Amino acid sequence: MSDVPEISPEGVEAAVADALAAIADAPDTAALKQVRAAHQGEGSRLAAFNAQMRSVPKERKAEFGKLVGQARGRVTQALVAREEELAEAETHARLQAESLDITAIGSRTRQGARHPIALMQERICDHFVAMGWDIAEGPELEHEWFNFDSLNIDEDHPARQEQDTFYVDPAERHLVLRTQTSPVQMRTMLERDLPIHMLSPGKVARTDEFDATHLPVFTQAEGLVIDKGITMAHLKGTLDHLAKQLFGEEAKTRLRTNHFPFTEPSAEFDLWHPTFSGGARWIEWGGCGMVNPHVLRAAGIDPEVYSGFAFGIGIERALMFRSDVQDMRDMAEGDVRFSEQFGMVV
Ligand code: DAH
Repeated sequence: MSDVPEISPEGVEAAVADALAAIADAPDTAALKQVRAAHQGEGSRLAAFNAQMRSVPKERKAEFGKLVGQARGRVTQALVAREEELAEAETHARLQAESLDITAIGSRTRQGARHPIALMQERICDHFVAMGWDIAEGPELEHEWFNFDSLNIDEDHPARQEQDTFYVDPAERHLVLRTQTSPVQMRTMLERDLPIHMLSPGKVARTDEFDATHLPVFTQAEGLVIDKGITMAHLKGTLDHLAKQLFGEEAKTRLRTNHFPFTEPSAEFDLWHPTFSGGARWIEWGGCGMVNPHVLRAAGIDPEVYSGFAFGIGIERALMFRSDVQDMRDMAEGDVRFSEQFGMVV
């Protein structure tokens, strides 16, 4: 301890003064711990003075003992007091930081919104379920037989050409991305007991452009009723009822003759849209008809006893008409700001 001066009242006082100054300056308990080690621990001046007591002449031992003892006592007291003060301040600061203002308005994490196509699909399903119809589902990856052959669409029908249909490898499995929800008609006729009242919503795919009025993947809903004595009047009434439900009391439908291989007679149907943004008008909405006897027979149903109607509507088109969506691409791009406008934020 050669750098420590001999014990003297001034030397001890100076060591105490340094210690007290350092204690007062310690900004937090961690710093105070270091101050304690430096000014009171092993190697500190006070510890050195204490060690020197051994070599102090007998007659001065009491005097120096008191001096060093009191010095150490003052430093210890100051350390304890500062320790308490700092610990209290730190606890206070922590509580402050952790405190919750329960009156504050919480920040909500934006999670998204139900997609308007899903909402429209649900709305249409609810309408039919309320009339006692069943909802049926079919696979989006469909066998060619269900998508085409069973529906009386033969090999050289234009819809079967490559430019319309996504064929799926390997070719010998005869799988396609279904081009329509109509294959669910056949699946339902094969699986369910008569009479049938079913609606089948779902995705379909065609090799179409992606533009304002076409999507390569879009959504349809297929309706099918098979019972004794079903006529085209039932079909017309069903479509009108749906139109009014979705577009208001003044809405109605009209049939225009057309051809689909799986219905006979067949029609395209238009919607009278009373509140269309460009003025009330007829707009094309879907296809329909009386189920072709060939299709009934393929499903093992006797066309002499049973008859039925079928229709297919585009869900995207229904959404365009109902909510005045101009560009179909908005429905496919998945921007939550589009979905949020339909009011179903979750
Ligand atoms: N599947 C047809 C299409 O996607 C629409 C259609 C027409 C469905 C007539 C039917 C129907 O059920 O009877 O173009």
